[in-house]
Amino acid sequence: MEININILLRPHLAALKPYASARDEYTGKEGVFLDANENPFGSITVENFNRYPDPYQQALKERISEIKGVPPDQLFLGNGSDEAIDLLFRAFCRPGVDQAILLPPTYGMYEVSAGINDVQTVRVPLTPEFQLDTKAILEAVTSTSKLLFICSPNNPSGNNMRREDVLFLINHFPGIVVVDEAYTDFSGEASFTTELPNCPNLLVIQTFSKAWGLASLRLGMAFASQEIIRILNKIKPPYNISGLTQQKVLEALGDLTHMEVMTKDILRERGFLEKGLAEVSLVEKIYPSDANFLLIKVKEAKKTYNELVDEKIIVRDRSNVLLCDECLRITVGTRKENEFLLETLKKLDE
Ligand SMILES: Cc1ncc(COP(=O)(O)O)c(C=O)c1O
Repeated sequence: MEININILLRPHLAALKPYASARDEYTGKEGVFLDANENPFGSITVENFNRYPDPYQQALKERISEIKGVPPDQLFLGNGSDEAIDLLFRAFCRPGVDQAILLPPTYGMYEVSAGINDVQTVRVPLTPEFQLDTKAILEAVTSTSKLLFICSPNNPSGNNMRREDVLFLINHFPGIVVVDEAYTDFSGEASFTTELPNCPNLLVIQTFSKAWGLASLRLGMAFASQEIIRILNKIKPPYNISGLTQQKVLEALGDLTHMEVMTKDILRERGFLEKGLAEVSLVEKIYPSDANFLLIKVKEAKKTYNELVDEKIIVRDRSNVLLCDECLRITVGTRKENEFLLETLKKLDE
């Protein structure tokens, strides 16, 4: 799709002068630093964190770029992917005027972020198979449709969207198409980052919270054209990624094998859980999953949820969500956790 990002951008942002941090003004590494009102002594209990971190996370971006095959200037790092989602609304949607298209059932933060930013959403449900209703989505487009959120693999249904449908929408939606790949490492499907050279209106989201096992560090990635990434960098808080996060994620990126082994383990456990759940009679349906969780339909979701909580097993009750009547979402745990869940469900069966 031919797209002019500057026309999509909220007009007042084109002229906005971003905050210039001390580290923007002097980028050298050596010297006596008396420019950022930091504490020269630092803390004895937590050493080496008295200086502000690199506002553009260059070392980290270079490493991520090597692994993902996307140039560093096409990568934005956020305080979780949730920060990237919020910044997209702030960058492209005029409050009370522009709209975002959401495809329920899907990740709840799109709606919440839209609400926080006073942006109206148009909801086009997925099909009963949790696939994209491409015709209905394009019919919902208006002159104020700025963002379209596609989650693949989708949360809470767990499945990949059909690739040709996603590509079709990228090629026909007249705004920015966000493909949220938070669970992509579990899916076996090629990332949409490979489409970036042909798709100037595509933004792909990934995260360190899932397959990398680093949810507490809060690091999300957004991959897009240099133009879109420049806009996100312009409006982000200056030091949005802590020094600790930059350091620890860089360390984790040094051991790709560990991440791959963990991912394989989770996939094996997903198979174990699927097999076990199929033997539980209160489980009526197990939806196919390309993620690290399973959506299951049970006889009475609220009742089963509460009975599991009584046994200190916490799953997610999704029964109030569109197309998810009587559904629970279960994250794949360790073998011990999965066995405990299955034993408990079997007891509830009796
Ligand atoms: C689809 C999807 N996108 C994004 C996120 C948020 O990820 P992060 O921890 O990077 O903010 C989640 C978290 O559950 C998710 O399910």
